[in-house]
Amino acid sequence: MAIREVLKFPDPRLREISKPILEINDEIRELARDLCDVMYDEPGIGLAAPQVGVPLRLIVVDTTWTEEDAERRPLILINPELSEHEGAIIWKEGCLSVPDFESEVERSEKVRLIAQDLEGEEVTIDAKELQAVCFQHEADHLDGVLFIDRISRLKRNLYVKRRKKQLKQELEEA
Ligand code: NI
Repeated sequence: MAIREVLKFPDPRLREISKPILEINDEIRELARDLCDVMYDEPGIGLAAPQVGVPLRLIVVDTTWTEEDAERRPLILINPELSEHEGAIIWKEGCLSVPDFESEVERSEKVRLIAQDLEGEEVTIDAKELQAVCFQHEADHLDGVLFIDRISRLKRNLYVKRRKKQLKQELEEA
């Protein structure tokens, strides 16, 4: 099983607006499987298709598998839409596409997510706290938005500087 590579900031493909999925075919089913593989392999609790270089509106989320029972129950969400935003919550976020960085981000505490599953059935999930944060974070990826866009400019600039230095070092060592 080949694991797809996760694109890392500042890869411009992370800034693209992903396209709606019009037909759930073998390609989409394979993409969903691959996204789950990458999410569990990294490990992470969510991943969006553009993070592996596929600009389509598909995300996978599993916010409970790292807990004690370790059971994997991935949500595969096609063309997700968020509504019914309520409240505010501050959560420390990280991202597989933003290496070596975490920061507190303010999000809605509750959201409703409506999407299609792999069978094309409509699913509605009323999420709160971590799951709501994760839905908002992954949905952002589909619009080319990263969590570092939602923190202070000062913090973002510090990270961007550090990241550039890191990339330069990697280049020099290669
Ligand atoms: Ni992310």
